[in-house]
Amino acid sequence: MISGKHTRTISITSGKGGVGKTTLTANLALTFAQAGQKILIFDGDFGMANVDIFFGVKAKGHLSEVLKGEKSINDILTELYPNIYLISGGSGVTDYNQMSALERKSMLESLSELPHRFDIVLIDTAPGISDHVLHLNASTDEINVILTPDPSSIADSYALIKILHQTYKRTRFSIICNQVRDDIEGRQLFLRFQDVCDRFLSVMLEYQGSVPFDATIKKASQQQKLFMRQESATVSTKATQQVANEMLQKLSRIEPNPGLQMFWEQVVGTA
Ligand SMILES: Nc1ncnc2c1ncn2[C@@H]1O[C@H](COP(=O)(O)OP(=O)(O)O)[C@@H](O)[C@H]1O
Ligand SMILES: [Mg+2]
Repeated sequence: MISGKHTRTISITSGKGGVGKTTLTANLALTFAQAGQKILIFDGDFGMANVDIFFGVKAKGHLSEVLKGEKSINDILTELYPNIYLISGGSGVTDYNQMSALERKSMLESLSELPHRFDIVLIDTAPGISDHVLHLNASTDEINVILTPDPSSIADSYALIKILHQTYKRTRFSIICNQVRDDIEGRQLFLRFQDVCDRFLSVMLEYQGSVPFDATIKKASQQQKLFMRQESATVSTKATQQVANEMLQKLSRIEPNPGLQMFWEQVVGTA
């Protein structure tokens, strides 16, 4: 179990879209909260911010509105579920690269006024290798890359890891294999990917576990529900629980970043 003394920051990211980042972010958040952790979800998929729908709650506002001075951080901090809070980056419009020094400073000041202490900040990123995605990932304690058996997934994940390594000097990555047949296929997919990375990069990959393809997950998404709230345990709910437990164990072992403030500074881009 991790202590609330430091906040750990974890990104859920991918090279390509539609691999299950948002679904996993929301369901992992629920699992962490049920294990007694206080969670802040940062919805950093500015193209399609949609974590809130799984909780049947609408984000009270977006970071872009804070930036424009229209709202305070307290106005937009949305409680999704007991012990799960959301800050949404907002859809489409926000370009953090365009922010002036003054805007960055005011954003940081408002973020430092967040009223709660969180055990884990879980970041759902957009897919790909845009500056913003790279920036968000580079700021976190733990980067989780979601890999699927789709042939383009390996190439796209490789491209993401390569640039995070070469430009942002990240060396450790956790890999979650999603939409696999079973954990055997998950491990094989991981080994294949590790093999490619080992040949060209000096990075360390860790297998964080797998979640099988499960039609009930898709159905839950369509109904805007959390699949982890299903009444009976399925193979996929057990697998997700296991991924969450392993993550908690790992988080208790790693040295967290110097502080959440530093994390926000990196996100906003002053570091
Ligand atoms: N393990 C899984 N089994 C079946 N469907 C899944 C699984 N994981 C995700 N999905 C489905 O894939 C689609 C994309 O998921 P989403 O979380 O929105 O991806 P992303 O955020 O990476 O774009 C959704 O319809 C979701 O229900
Ligand atoms: Mg998404």
